Amino acid sequence: MKKSMLFVLALVFVLACALPAAAETYKVGVAIYQFDDNFMTLYRNELEKYMKSLETDDMKFDITIVDGKNDMAEQSNQIDNFITQGMDVIILNLVQTSSADAIIDKIVENEIPLILINREPLGDDGDESYKGILDNATVCYVGADARQSGSMQGALIADLENHGDLNGDGKISYIMIEGDPENIDAQYRTQFSIKYLTDNGFEVEELDDQVGNWAQAKGQEIAANDLSKFGDAIEVIFCNNDAMALGAAAAIQAAGREVGKDIYLVGVDALNECVQMVIDGTMTGTVKNDEVGQSHAAVDAAIVALKGEELQNYYWVDYVKVTAENAENFLAK
Ligand code: BGC
Repeated sequence: MKKSMLFVLALVFVLACALPAAAETYKVGVAIYQFDDNFMTLYRNELEKYMKSLETDDMKFDITIVDGKNDMAEQSNQIDNFITQGMDVIILNLVQTSSADAIIDKIVENEIPLILINREPLGDDGDESYKGILDNATVCYVGADARQSGSMQGALIADLENHGDLNGDGKISYIMIEGDPENIDAQYRTQFSIKYLTDNGFEVEELDDQVGNWAQAKGQEIAANDLSKFGDAIEVIFCNNDAMALGAAAAIQAAGREVGKDIYLVGVDALNECVQMVIDGTMTGTVKNDEVGQSHAAVDAAIVALKGEELQNYYWVDYVKVTAENAENFLAK
């Protein structure tokens, strides 16, 4: 080979090495159970923002986020589309946890790593068949243990000077406003808030327990009806989330009652409005459901999977009790 030819080849080689390698763009499909949900809106915005912030010269993310509109058939179609589109990873907030097995199987069969978020299909001490799927190194659940949030709600009441017994009759009379009953968060919060009180020796009286489906308007309607039905007998309103507590707070105000004086109100999530209400005294307390911690853990897990590394079965993020004493720390900056 001529010297000049060799020189040209060497030059081409050097130039090729010097050129930056093309970035790998990963397709990320995110399916949210319903966009119209205060907490999941904070969660999904943070998830997208955080994932974008992790892009490097070598790793880019093409993120598609879809709204399941609280309709399992709709979400199932969205997952089929994600599979056809060749997503590299799927982050899934199930509409119906009872459909988990079928949906998870479909995703696993297509060899797409799956990060389940927010709605745990079954507790990790639950049904073994479900556990089997999670044991797969390409599937995991990222969330918070709702038992903890329920117990913290109970503690918010137990820690009050009168332990929630405003009329001094020796029992805490309450109404419970539940989220979607199929959702383990709703089941555990309902159960463990009261369990905390009875485990600590307090007598309780349930005046009503109704499903508000996580929604503010429904929370308001249930609280308004109960306040007119049971009047002063209601000492505590437990809401499985803050959206419903916002509704209950409006009903309390309309009924001429005053939180902290003649009624108590607790929620879960620590939405900014509710943290402000805890500071102002119009809510007794709430529990921080850490959407930042959870969305970051979900993205971090997705990246582990994209790198082809093994996932743990579960990634847990702690809840935190929010009271008038520490609420300032939870206000969005
Ligand atoms: C939150 C609720 C939300 C629900 C959606 C729960 O963890 O506390 O506010 O509506 O998740 O699944």
